[in-house]
Amino acid sequence: MPHPIRLGVNIDHVATLRNARGTAYPSPLRAAKLAEAAGAQGITAHLREDRRHIRDADMAELKAGLRIPLNFEMAPTDEMARIALATRPHACCLVPERREEVTTEGGLDVATDAARLTDYVGALAQAGIRVSMFIGHDPAQIEASAAVGAQVVELHTGRYCDLHYEGRFAERDLELDALRAGAAYARSLGLEVHAGHGLTFETVAPVAAIPEIRELNIGHFLIAEAVFLGLKDAIIQMRALMDTAR
Ligand code: PXP
Repeated sequence: MPHPIRLGVNIDHVATLRNARGTAYPSPLRAAKLAEAAGAQGITAHLREDRRHIRDADMAELKAGLRIPLNFEMAPTDEMARIALATRPHACCLVPERREEVTTEGGLDVATDAARLTDYVGALAQAGIRVSMFIGHDPAQIEASAAVGAQVVELHTGRYCDLHYEGRFAERDLELDALRAGAAYARSLGLEVHAGHGLTFETVAPVAAIPEIRELNIGHFLIAEAVFLGLKDAIIQMRALMDTAR
């Protein structure tokens, strides 16, 4: 029987909706508390350099207002390190960031930035923050994540989901095989394995079934589905699909 799998709910796009009109609502903290009540085991929020959705005040409110762990997604910059060290979230997930991208398009290149990231991860870890690297399934990136001292890797499932929705099923299945191999390899190096990006009701089960994966982080689809089902029911359905796959 594999370990249970946690669901982290990413509430960034509640802030996207708020910022679209410059209003005070909808509140990311209110969504996070509802997610907590619906059975989420963690909340993820990405403070981007351009503050297009989550803002500094949201991070502080989330940290103060939640009982479940807060996962602070951020680019590995000096500014973000300062904010993370002041906020002290449970975990930080380090992601690449390009200003012009619509969403986080690829994994972090840990291997070519290893010396700097070793210091960066060390400073966060010393403050008691778990550090996760958001990477592709490339073995070199997995090895580099272990080498820089990260405790966790989060495998990028975006390409798998895109291939599914483009109907390219043979390629999707190869991508899933690579995610499975990556998860097993990461675990063999002592890393905890998470996964996320682009997951939906249709695509979650095969990823949730990978036994080494301990946590999925899901955002955009759940917030979108909340329009139709409500956030609570969307989370309950996602959890049920994850549990069945396990
Ligand atoms: N995990 C990481 C590291 C991410 O960057 C994102 C997107 O912010 C997610 C999970 C969630 O992706 P989605 O919003 O597509 O579910």
